[in-house]
Amino acid sequence: MAIREVAGEIVLLDIKEGLAEGKVLDMYQTATLMDFDTTLTGVTNDYAATANSDVVVITSGMPRKPGMTREELIGVNAGIVKDVVTNILKYSPNAILLLVSNPMDTMTYLAQKVSGLPANRVFGMGGALDSARFRCYLAKAMNVCSNDVDGMVIGGHGDTTMIPLTSKASYKGVPVSEFLDKETLAKVAADTMVGGATLTKLLGTSAWYAPGAAVARVVESIINDEKKVFASCVHLDGQYGQKDIYIGAPAVIGRNGVEKVLEISLTEEEKAAFAKSAEAVRKTASVLTEIGAL
Ligand code: LAC
Repeated sequence: MAIREVAGEIVLLDIKEGLAEGKVLDMYQTATLMDFDTTLTGVTNDYAATANSDVVVITSGMPRKPGMTREELIGVNAGIVKDVVTNILKYSPNAILLLVSNPMDTMTYLAQKVSGLPANRVFGMGGALDSARFRCYLAKAMNVCSNDVDGMVIGGHGDTTMIPLTSKASYKGVPVSEFLDKETLAKVAADTMVGGATLTKLLGTSAWYAPGAAVARVVESIINDEKKVFASCVHLDGQYGQKDIYIGAPAVIGRNGVEKVLEISLTEEEKAAFAKSAEAVRKTASVLTEIGAL
């Protein structure tokens, strides 16, 4: 975000003493090397320093360890996210909240309920990241430039709930099925779905760069009112046959947050996958009530 100068000032907050200050100092020292003018501030638990934020990105919580699913984090992360949302709103009542904490669909649902904010002002980032991974794997399989490949991942942000929309993916507007056989496409979709887990296995913790870059692009679209379409974890009110749920769908992102949820046509197979994904996302969200978080 600093490099792209999406905001005049960015504040990093963490509960671990000195961590945000240290990260910020390291980043700030690159200002003349990376040629950015963004002001960076790092604080430990000092929410007053975040006052009047336009956008708040919530990544707080325990990251995955190798072998863990995102869903296993729900108990501990629900408490953390609730606490963070409450503190943020004390100082930035007009902020748009962008959720990254896992399990992301559930944490976005929780943040909206806890904050009581209109649904357009609370949404989750997962789809932007998953779609970037999908495009990356497609480009690798085709041995072409990633930016010439388009594609989107909808559904939940989970290893088994993601739906890479292979039927709609294209290379300069031409369906990717003209360049890749069925087996390769299935492998690309499967690799995309475990894109995060693969990194967790390699690194021992969550991915950093791609989630960060995906956040930056989404925030940029909000601040500059770009109205770009990102697959995002959004509140559905009848679209795709679903209500009272937060799940990944294409959405227009602008100064008002989620300005529109696009209801695109899906194949019968994709429709069935979406219904199944919604059922799983709903089941995870119901844990919030079971553990008393809602
Ligand atoms: C990932 C984590 C951030 O997908 O959910 O990398």
